[in-house]
Amino acid sequence: MKLLFLISFIFLIDLYFYFGVISFFEKQPVGQVIFKISYWLLSLIVYVALIYLILYSDETTPSIKFNNNIIYSSLFFIFFSAKLVGCVPLITDDILRLFKQIFNLFSSNESKLDVSRLNFLRNTALFASGFIVSSMLLGIKFGRFNFKKYFSNISIKGWNSDYKIVHLSDLHIGSFNSVEKVEEIVNIVNDQNPDLIVFTGDLVNNYYNEVLPYVDVLKKLKAKDGKYSVLGNHDYCDYVGWKRSSVEWRENFENMKKIQSKIGFDLLLNDSRVINSSSNSFNIVGVENWGAGNFNKDGDLDKAMIGVDDKLPTILLSHDPSHWRNAVLKSKYLIDLQLSGHTHGMQFGIEIPGFKWSPVSFRYKEWAGLYKESDKQIYVNRGLGHLGYAGRVGIMPDISILNIKS
Ligand SMILES: [Fe+2]
Repeated sequence: MKLLFLISFIFLIDLYFYFGVISFFEKQPVGQVIFKISYWLLSLIVYVALIYLILYSDETTPSIKFNNNIIYSSLFFIFFSAKLVGCVPLITDDILRLFKQIFNLFSSNESKLDVSRLNFLRNTALFASGFIVSSMLLGIKFGRFNFKKYFSNISIKGWNSDYKIVHLSDLHIGSFNSVEKVEEIVNIVNDQNPDLIVFTGDLVNNYYNEVLPYVDVLKKLKAKDGKYSVLGNHDYCDYVGWKRSSVEWRENFENMKKIQSKIGFDLLLNDSRVINSSSNSFNIVGVENWGAGNFNKDGDLDKAMIGVDDKLPTILLSHDPSHWRNAVLKSKYLIDLQLSGHTHGMQFGIEIPGFKWSPVSFRYKEWAGLYKESDKQIYVNRGLGHLGYAGRVGIMPDISILNIKS
């Protein structure tokens, strides 16, 4: 039933977009035929792939359905988002035409308005969709594994001397399909000779066993004062239809904890540690996932802060940046810096020196980089992996190198 609803919805968008833009090829019969054939052929491929993925995917494999079927899921995301964006100018045009029709009902023959489609808006729809399709296709080839080092200086009151944290997040390792690419990340990180490595969640798409082929590589990550991690919303296996009380769910969760320790991550589940390096002492606190809206809220800041020495600077690991504004800023705790991920910068946007924008900024006020509010700060990693769409446009896979200083 859900599948039928989904296909009908996509088909309606397809039809609406098609009839909205087809007049562009009015005077070009050859172009019109090419457009018709390629448009419906591509749409058909997406429908067949979608039905196949939903009906025939083996849910017991490490990466289920969408996220392991990179090509199908990416095709779906590319064409769906392109048509959806293209529909915006078309809908604007139709609203205008509706108002004109209403006006015409009450006006004389001489003053009636032309209600045909505006060429400008139709062309905008075509251009926007074409731009999205081509940039997203290029983003698979050139963005997907284009790991970028993002350097930031972050001042914390009471800090002694410069300290290097490599902050990673959102590997979504089931979508990688390449041990070599993960090895490349490990080499980039180790070359930095970090004091500390932190990982802020979404190691997997769903299942712990997505990590199995990568354990030996991830174990090679090295930092003087250790490697700490927290869980993201995807690490709970909540999206496969298992109840949390089921044996399968519990087994997966236990194995998830074990595999984190196997790769050398000290997983903080509403817990804390004191890091005593040669020149700095500070608290590292980690909460389980806490996300605004429908996301799970297993994070318990009060529990995590039990026994934390508030005379030392405190860094909090919390997967979802919405936790900061919704809970951390409102709390009584002195948390100098929160490190988060989750947004992926939507894997699509613009980022140039002095300016950054992504559609995800409509949903998350803090979505990439450093943000301050009085003496509290949050740094949001753009994610290393990908989900659904196997590419990156504008917002690259993120290896954050944070220089913490006084
Ligand atoms: Fe994620």
